Amino acid sequence: MSRALPPFAAFRSIGAYAPKKILSNADLEKMIDTTDAWITKRTGIKERRIAAEDESTSDMGAKAATIAIERAGIAKEEIDLVLCATVTPDYFNMPSTACIISDKLGIHNVQALDISAACSGFVYLLSIAKAFIESGMKKNVLIIGAEKFSSIVDWTDRGTCILFGDGAGAAVISATTDREEAFVDVHASADGAYADFLVTPAPGSVNPMSQKTLDAGLNFVQMKGNETFKLAVKTLTKDVKEILAQNDIQAKDIPHFIPHQANYRIIKAVGDALNMREDQVVVTVHKYGNTSAASIPMAINDLYESGKLKYGELMLLDTFGGGLTWASALLPFAGKRVYT
Ligand code: ACO
Repeated sequence: MSRALPPFAAFRSIGAYAPKKILSNADLEKMIDTTDAWITKRTGIKERRIAAEDESTSDMGAKAATIAIERAGIAKEEIDLVLCATVTPDYFNMPSTACIISDKLGIHNVQALDISAACSGFVYLLSIAKAFIESGMKKNVLIIGAEKFSSIVDWTDRGTCILFGDGAGAAVISATTDREEAFVDVHASADGAYADFLVTPAPGSVNPMSQKTLDAGLNFVQMKGNETFKLAVKTLTKDVKEILAQNDIQAKDIPHFIPHQANYRIIKAVGDALNMREDQVVVTVHKYGNTSAASIPMAINDLYESGKLKYGELMLLDTFGGGLTWASALLPFAGKRVYT
């Protein structure tokens, strides 16, 4: 819930980057035993972007961040915290991708760190940025969701490789004394009992890098697709109902519902369960696939650049991912809240 006294956290700007290379369903038909019709029907995905071989997660994150900082209208030197959410960092496990992005942006001597919450990463960062700002510790927090998911996908596994794509999104979250600009609420939660639903088994302390782990393909993402699907619909719906009820807001009054872009069938099921109209629900999964932590900021950016997201309009964000993690947020976009 929003707090009584300033400083408050405000969403100030958005930026995103999608790699140039498009991998269509027709391209996938030439690589694995699948069809455009199957992928479209089961997921809604038509194409996804794939980073160049020499393009890293930090390269994409830095590009998205540059746009977000420019749109925030602040000098990069005013940023006092850089946070990156990714499960495809430049390096396992150091330096952090946030450190590398900070350097690429020319922001030095700043606190910088990564978090791992898979597809929930960006909304998790909103909650962390809010806490830092409301405690008075930081004033301008740069948050980035960036993924080179193609680097952990087994391109022979038709059950997973059709789903994911690469990209990055970033936002500047700033302190404000104006309550009307402030986040309304952020929820973030997790349940490690479902950790095996989505996992990259190696490298890590359980399975250190070895020829054996490589031969077994343990460096690729493994997913229990069906189980994840069912739990996603249940969790996303429950989380949104809770955040709306706690803030006394009706689903019909949300101009922009921006769910994690994993699968159109999940988005549709959640939208229907909430009685959302089609014009309220933002869908980009057909053109980017699932870009994990980049999914929500890329969708916000698409909406903004299309002219459909106006300053001050309320956004409802809702996401789930590996962990399992889930999170939701209610906040006005880059300005004083517009009431509908
Ligand atoms: N092309 C053609 N056939 C396929 C493909 C494919 N790409 N993939 C699977 N199939 C086949 C299966 O082999 C199976 O065949 P069978 O009946 O002969 O055994 C059949 O299609 C049905 O397979 P299911 O796995 O039951 O298909 P389902 O309808 O569940 O769709 C999917 C699979 C799309 C993966 C779905 O389960 C899903 O989207 N799950 C959620 C995944 C998700 O959102 N993950 C991301 C979480 S976020 C994060 O943190 C990364």
